[in-house]
Amino acid sequence: MNLLVTAGPTREHIDPVRFLSNPSTGKMGFAVAEAAAARGHRVTLVAGPVTLATPPGVQRVDITSAHEMLATLQHLLPQCAALVMTAAVADWRPKHCSTQKLKKATMRPTLELEPNPDILSTLAPLKQQRVFIGFAAETGNPLDEARRKLKTKGLDMIVANDVSQPHAGFASDTNQVTLLPAIGPPQALPLLDKLAVAHHIIAWLEAYSASGASRNANAERSPAL
Ligand code: CTP
Repeated sequence: MNLLVTAGPTREHIDPVRFLSNPSTGKMGFAVAEAAAARGHRVTLVAGPVTLATPPGVQRVDITSAHEMLATLQHLLPQCAALVMTAAVADWRPKHCSTQKLKKATMRPTLELEPNPDILSTLAPLKQQRVFIGFAAETGNPLDEARRKLKTKGLDMIVANDVSQPHAGFASDTNQVTLLPAIGPPQALPLLDKLAVAHHIIAWLEAYSASGASRNANAERSPAL
């Protein structure tokens, strides 16, 4: 299968030396790419700014902002059968980005922000028979919030992740997640290292694709396809 995986944060620059971002290290997305490549899939990893080495056999495209990530995915998605969206996309960007470093004395202390596009929702018209998997990083009611995102973003499965739990947050090597498919029962996994979590996710994707459930689910969502 040709898989597209995203990882890491995005950066939304204020000027050349300042940006808005989040603490994502990319570990979960890189683990997904590594597990998928090890299982024989062709993987393209679209990565925000992180310090991790590219896993063996994985083709990597580096991006910085949410807009760059969206444009890269729009370009690559037509050749792929599935998208695993692990990236922690910044929801907001500064309305104005200066090409020159802003000087403290003249910089205004308030930032005017505008929303970034929701990448998964923007890609929905290109989904067709493709499988879309999202991640929900939550700090309260992880399952309820993840179910809401599963529906509103039209996903086949979402990985619910309570990032407030010890050993399950952004920089951790381990994670404790629940796989919430659109069809079928939830699967709560124990605390595992991120590579083991990644293998569970790719195993789910393989079984789902082989069952033809993705085609049925997409036909139900868009009867015209
Ligand atoms: N996501 C996306 N585009 C965005 C923000 C998030 O495609 N602008 C994707 C993430 O990669 C993830 C899923 O949507 O797969 C859920 O992301 P999350 O940050 O948990 O949720 P948000 O949609 O940002 O909602 P909220 O901030 O209300 O939790």
